[in-house]
Amino acid sequence: MEITKLTSHEQPPMDLLLLADPSPSLVEEYIQRGQCYVAKAEELILGVYVLLPTRPETVEIVNVAVDERHQGQGIGKKLVNHAIETARQLGYKTIEIGTGNSSIGQLALYQKCGFRMTWIDRDFFIRHYDEPIYENGMQVIDMVRLSQDL
Ligand code: ACO
Ligand code: ACO
Repeated sequence: MEITKLTSHEQPPMDLLLLADPSPSLVEEYIQRGQCYVAKAEELILGVYVLLPTRPETVEIVNVAVDERHQGQGIGKKLVNHAIETARQLGYKTIEIGTGNSSIGQLALYQKCGFRMTWIDRDFFIRHYDEPIYENGMQVIDMVRLSQDL
């Protein structure tokens, strides 16, 4: 498996991107403004992440997703670690990520990759999404913000 930047003639894998974010309009917006990287094996896209510059010297992983048939095999961890190394090589000083209060596996993964919690964006998912979202038997309401110095 190799992780490469999506070239200008390749289509972003929308089905995968929508696994991480149910809003097509938000996904469209950040793939325009950010850089999309894909994990491929034998020309099949198994995973994706998007790096979005947000503030001076700061970049955010706004989307990371792995094909459902290939989850739990270490691909998500490889993508997050690749994003951290890419951001460092591009000269950013801080990398950020955010996820829902109910996203227990994601919170475990990001902390295993070196992220620390910084603050809570309360009611983020109420303000930005029209429909209520449920995960692990909980409503997704707040966004947990995490970051790490590069
Ligand atoms: N408790 C402890 N550790 C956990 C838990 C848990 N409940 N759940 C997961 N983990 C750990 C695993 O043990 C593993 O760590 P390890 O390698 O040390 O054992 C790690 O988290 C998961 O590793 P991977 O197998 O690499 O993860 P995967 O390939 O399944 O990718 C991802 C994770 C991207 C979250 C995938 O499940 C996915 O695509 N989900 C749907 C989309 C999504 O929710 N994306 C994130 C939205 S937030 C955002 O995009 C910024
Ligand atoms: N994802 C989603 N839901 C989860 C997860 C998970 N990874 N882990 C637990 N839950 C949910 C369960 O599904 C269940 O909810 P449900 O009834 O809706 O299905 C709930 O959490 C757990 O319920 P109980 O079975 O009532 O919990 P238990 O009797 O095991 O008590 C406790 C929990 C007190 C934390 C127990 O495990 C314990 O004594 N642990 C050791 C001591 C400890 O850690 N105490 C807390 C320290 S912090 C403090 O004291 C303030």
